[in-house]
Amino acid sequence: MCGIIGYVGDKQALPILLAGLRRMEYRGYDSAGVAFNGPFGVHVRKASGKIAKLEEELDGHEYEQTEGIAHTRWATHGPPSQLNAHPHTDAASTIALVHNGIIENYHSLRKALEKHGRTFSTDTDTEVLVCLIAEYYKDNLTEAVRLALSQVEGAYGIAVICEKEPGVMVAARNGSPLVIGHGDGENFVASDISAVLNYTKRVVFLDDGEIATVTRDSYKITNIDNASITPHVEEITYSLDQIEKGGYEHFMLKEIHEQAHTLRDAIRGRLNFEEGMPRLNGLNLQVDQLRTIDRIIISACGTSWHSGLIGEYMIEELARVPVEVEYASEFRYRSPIIPPNSVFIAMSQSGETADTLAAMREAKHSGATTLGIVNVVGSCIARETDGGVYTHSGPEIGVASTKAFTSQVMVLSMMSILLGRMRDLSSQQGMELIDYLQNIPDQVEQILQQDEHIKDIAEVYHKSNNFLYLGRGVNFPVALEGALKLKEISYIHAEGYPAAEMKHGPIALIDENMPVVVIALKDMVYDKVITGINQVKARGGRVIAIATEGDTEIASQADHVIYIPATYRLFTPLLSIIPLQLLAYHIAALRGCEIDQPRNLAKSVTVE
Ligand code: G6P
Repeated sequence: MCGIIGYVGDKQALPILLAGLRRMEYRGYDSAGVAFNGPFGVHVRKASGKIAKLEEELDGHEYEQTEGIAHTRWATHGPPSQLNAHPHTDAASTIALVHNGIIENYHSLRKALEKHGRTFSTDTDTEVLVCLIAEYYKDNLTEAVRLALSQVEGAYGIAVICEKEPGVMVAARNGSPLVIGHGDGENFVASDISAVLNYTKRVVFLDDGEIATVTRDSYKITNIDNASITPHVEEITYSLDQIEKGGYEHFMLKEIHEQAHTLRDAIRGRLNFEEGMPRLNGLNLQVDQLRTIDRIIISACGTSWHSGLIGEYMIEELARVPVEVEYASEFRYRSPIIPPNSVFIAMSQSGETADTLAAMREAKHSGATTLGIVNVVGSCIARETDGGVYTHSGPEIGVASTKAFTSQVMVLSMMSILLGRMRDLSSQQGMELIDYLQNIPDQVEQILQQDEHIKDIAEVYHKSNNFLYLGRGVNFPVALEGALKLKEISYIHAEGYPAAEMKHGPIALIDENMPVVVIALKDMVYDKVITGINQVKARGGRVIAIATEGDTEIASQADHVIYIPATYRLFTPLLSIIPLQLLAYHIAALRGCEIDQPRNLAKSVTVE
């Protein structure tokens, strides 16, 4: 989720690189840097913070070079700092590289390189990659990149320059987008076409496994096996604004649609099939510590609190460890009891929410081991907890959280399997559960294809003033989250309830003006949920059901049905929330609401 731009041509590179970075700042903004190739070799300048900080750092220096690479970072390994910012170089500063993505096997590569005498000055996976390229370099940069990448597992989009080959830039992609912009007497490489569109509309999108050798007058594409690829040149016709939002009307819609991808990132390198056990090294807990956890307290606010509730169901059932989920704002002021061997988990997209941070400090003070499940690398919670797991969902711009939520639930799913395996879950059961998780991103993709169907349902109900959301078991928190999404962005009053509680109050509200969204999946309480649907229908209510694919009964009970694929019962929230996010989005869009910045809300609440 970082931004890459590279330039080789006859103009001064610096203004072009900085303008490109500014265009991509929405993708990541915790540090930035540039590297030039020129008569004095490779020259790198970096700064921690937004791109303005890099501009300050460069101010007053003359940079005449006509080729360079630049990067704006959204940290995944190592906190945001000047040192960890890209570009990275080998120790001798002969090769510089910018990278998006995650190199999964960087630990083992680093160990092997250290044996060959290579030294490292940062914590990043990227420095390992540039050193590997330097290790292979003889006299051909493209060949060195190709050989290095054949050793790499993971996702990358990279641009590389080498002091011995001025005028040459090498770019490669696997899972992280990269495009070549083809100009007259100049060529560009970028992770995002918004960075090059001011200069050229002719572009070539690289495919996974492709490597491009780019000079000012030419570009040549090969694959990892060194076979030549014929480039497919496209002429871009859409606007810059459309591009930043990936062609979507709003960042929220883009982020909803990114979830298949972000969920893949959340599990990347973390699922160990052979042992049926997820690998969550950042927890910093030894096996005996994991085994002796007596209680888990999850504390959070807003959407993150909802994912914590889902975690409670998953951890208690799979690991049989008691879990308590607390609003952070309540936890800190109520003299909580924290028994020995308690683990406190602070759940936060931003890692900066004031109440969650304060609750975590309170727990730490009381002697609990503190963990963070956080999206923003290097944020306060990530720094101050004893360990944790990053969710890797990339920058979330829309105020209403979507992709950060599903990644949190995915991390909790992995954590519950891990804790289960430390107790009674067999390796066979672990393998089966991991297999379910592995399939989730594809299943999310399938659900997203129903966008138009969900929009049609939104058309019917967007003028309603009240909504009720019902779910049971692990899908009760999903009902809460579905209602919250609708409230946040459409300003419609919505409430989430455990389905069976409806008869103890909310049923009084039901009439033909009250749409009821029911998560009615094929599980052990399915029949009971159907009874609830009948009760709503008997009072003239309208029912939108989220149902399991293959359920032939539900269509005759509900007014509208959105089907989701089957998965392991405890993992269904990863799927059932997707239609609810889309429903809230389309209703808000039809009501003409400010979706990305809803009134009165803030993305990150850093005050009490
Ligand atoms: C704010 C946001 C919510 C978010 C909550 C917790 O209220 O508007 O979308 O869920 O903060 O944020 P965190 O960054 O701690 O997950």
